[in-house]
Amino acid sequence: MRMLKSVKSAENKERFRPVFHFTAKSGWINDPVGLIFFQNRYHLFYQFNPYGCDWGSMHWGHAVSDDLVHWKDLPIALSPDSVYDHDKDGGCFSGSAIEKDGKLYLFYTGTVFRDGIKYQTQCMAESEDGVTFKKSPVNPVIANPPDGCGRDFRDPKVFRHGNHWYMVVGGATGIPEQGGEGRIYLYQSDDLFNWEYRGILLKSSGRWGTMFECPDLYEIDGKWVITSSPMLHEDYNKCMYLVGVADLENCDFEVLREGSLDLGYDYYAAQSFTDRTGRRIMIAWQNGWKWMPWFQTFGPTQDEGWRGQLSIPRIVSVNDDNSLKTSPVETLSILRYNVRDYKDYKINIEKQVLDITDPNCFMIEMEINVDQINSKAFTVGVWDTGSYCTVINFDFLNRALTVNLENSDAYSKSYITAPISFHDRKIKARIIGDRCSVEIYLNDGDVCITNNIYPESGPSKIWIKTPYSDAKINNLSVCSLRL
Ligand code: FRU
Repeated sequence: MRMLKSVKSAENKERFRPVFHFTAKSGWINDPVGLIFFQNRYHLFYQFNPYGCDWGSMHWGHAVSDDLVHWKDLPIALSPDSVYDHDKDGGCFSGSAIEKDGKLYLFYTGTVFRDGIKYQTQCMAESEDGVTFKKSPVNPVIANPPDGCGRDFRDPKVFRHGNHWYMVVGGATGIPEQGGEGRIYLYQSDDLFNWEYRGILLKSSGRWGTMFECPDLYEIDGKWVITSSPMLHEDYNKCMYLVGVADLENCDFEVLREGSLDLGYDYYAAQSFTDRTGRRIMIAWQNGWKWMPWFQTFGPTQDEGWRGQLSIPRIVSVNDDNSLKTSPVETLSILRYNVRDYKDYKINIEKQVLDITDPNCFMIEMEINVDQINSKAFTVGVWDTGSYCTVINFDFLNRALTVNLENSDAYSKSYITAPISFHDRKIKARIIGDRCSVEIYLNDGDVCITNNIYPESGPSKIWIKTPYSDAKINNLSVCSLRL
C-alpha cells in the first residue's frame, strides 16, 4: 500500500514527537476507536490517514499493549475499500469493539458521498485473532438514520447490559455546521446483526450543540455516565460528561450533573473501555478540529511526517457529588527516572529552576496544605526558553488555576482558568510534559487541563516561584519520563 514517507529520526528531526503519548509513525490520526482488552492484551484502534498529514480517507490504525503505556504497531485493521465506506472524503469512521464467543467485533460508521449527499451507515467487522478483520457480508447492519432525522449518523458505541446488546449512535436534526439539535439514538440487539431502534436517549435541547460526536454510555458503581463531543457547543466544553440515571428499557436518561472531561483545548472524542480488572479507562484524541471557534493550530509536526496524538489513558471514577474524576493510569509511573522527592521545599520571589534531567519529558507532583504554605499563590514556568514560557499560576485566594498560553510558543494564544477546590485544606497538583503537550491534573483528576504546545528548540527550564517572601510546598516530587 502507498504509505507516507516518514522523516527519519535523526537527532532533533523529531523533537516534537511525544515519548509516551501514542502517535502514528507517519500520517494523520484523530479519534481513538474500538478500545478493548481482548485475548490478554489491550487493543487500540484509531482514525488514520496513512497517505498524508491531513484528515481524509479514514482507515482504522491498530496497536496493542500490555500495560497501556508501551504500544506495538499492528497492520491497519480496516481500510475504506467497500461500496459503503470507499470515499476519500469519508471512509471507515469512528466506532467501538466488543467480544462475543471469543471473537472480536468492530462497529464503525461507513461514510460515503453520492452527488454531494452524505450517507452514513453502521457497519461491522469481525476477527478471530484480533489482527486480521473481515467486514460482515450483511453490512451495513444499520442502513439509515431513524426517520425524520438528519443525515449525520455516526460513531456507534456497542455494549452489553443485562441480556441485550445496546448501541448508542450520535446524530443531528439538521446540518451540524449550520445549526439544529444533537441527538443520541439507542438501538438494541440480541445477535449483533439485527438492530431494533429504541428511540432518542438524549436531545441537546439547545444546551449541548448541534451534533453529538462519539457518544459513550456506561455504568460505574450504579451511576450512569454519558460522554460525548458536541459540535458547535458554544462554551468551551468540547468533551462533555453527564452523570445520571439511565433506563434503557424505556430509553430515558435523567441528568443529575454535567461537566467537562478536560478544560484544555486539546482533548476530544474520548472513548472508554474496561481494563483487565474491570476499571473504566478513557482515551481521547489530543487535538481539536479547525471548525472549533477556539482552534488556532495543528502546530508544525507535519514537518516531521506525523500529525495527531492520543491522550494518556485515564481511570474514570464518579465522585460522591456526581462529578467525574479522570486520572492518568498508574502504569505511567514505570516511566519515571531520576526522581527527586522534597519535603517542605522552599520557594520565594526568585525563580528556582527545578532539578529535572529531561525538561522536555517530565512529571511534577505537589501536595500543598493551604494553611501552611505561607503564601497565597505560586507560579510554575514550563519550557522557559528565554523568549517563550508557559505560565501556570495557582491562586489560593481566588481559588483559581490559570494556564497562560499567550507566550507559550509561536503558535498558541490565550489562557484557561479553572476553579481550585480544597480537600481538608489540601491540594494535590500534577503537571506532565511530553515534548509538545502540557497536562495539569488537580486532586487526582477532578480538574484536567490538556494543551499542545510547540516550544522553540534549544535549552529550556522549568521553574517555580511565589510573590511572597518565604513559602514552602509540603511535598514535591519531580522526575523525567522515558520508555
Ligand atoms: C470526531 C469525528 C467523528 C467521526 C470521525 C471521522 O472527531 O468527527 O464523529 O466519526 O471524527 O474521522
